[in-house]
Amino acid sequence: MANAQTINNPCSNPMTLLQAKHKQALADRDSNSRYCTLATLEQNDPSQVRMRTLVMREITKESCLMFVNRRAQKNISDLENTRVEVLFFYPTLMSQFRMRGTLSLLPQKVVETHWQHKPYEAKLLDHFYARFQAQSGSIAGRKDLESGISLLEKEYPDPSSVPFIEDAVGLVVTANYLEVWQGNDSGIHDRQLYTLQKGEWHDQMIVP
Ligand SMILES: Cc1cc2nc3c(=O)[nH]c(=O)nc-3n(C[C@H](O)[C@H](O)[C@H](O)COP(=O)(O)O)c2cc1C
Repeated sequence: MANAQTINNPCSNPMTLLQAKHKQALADRDSNSRYCTLATLEQNDPSQVRMRTLVMREITKESCLMFVNRRAQKNISDLENTRVEVLFFYPTLMSQFRMRGTLSLLPQKVVETHWQHKPYEAKLLDHFYARFQAQSGSIAGRKDLESGISLLEKEYPDPSSVPFIEDAVGLVVTANYLEVWQGNDSGIHDRQLYTLQKGEWHDQMIVP
């Protein structure tokens, strides 16, 4: 019941709990530790939810950060200031965090500083979306993808030669709701709901 004690302690800022579990999951090489699931509403049909796995870049005491491309199905300008949900599940810890908050964009100057650490292939894909076909758009086959990428490889033969492209954007979700589900050996798990009201986090236990 050690985990249950952790979450039953009211926390002045539950984001620190998410930070700690994320750190622990990374140290444990949990296969989900680098990822999260972001849920938004479908661009042309707000009655339909759309989810996708994203790399979780950073979790702070207020927010979390992910990188995406502006030319994707998720219409970035429509998403700005909307309320979204981000889900984290760390199987090694049997911990789930459901975070809700408002989406904003990381200043492009900061995105540019992250660009140098972006994997080569991911940089090339950002250029592919701009030059050949947007992310989530249709293509005739794998060959079209590979020929576009190999053209870009010739143009930019190494990672440092790939120029920053403004389509690369950082999504910041500022939390106002965090629900923690903590598994334990008894099979009767624990859930705690934290909501941010007038700048202060309030917590209540909820039925698992
Ligand atoms: C393990 C994994 C990691 C991913 N990481 C990212 C990411 O960091 N950024 C991104 O834009 N898409 C990432 N994707 C692809 C997205 O899940 C999604 O397919 C893509 O962003 C297009 O989403 P959309 O059509 O809803 O715009 C990842 C997929 C997987 C399975």
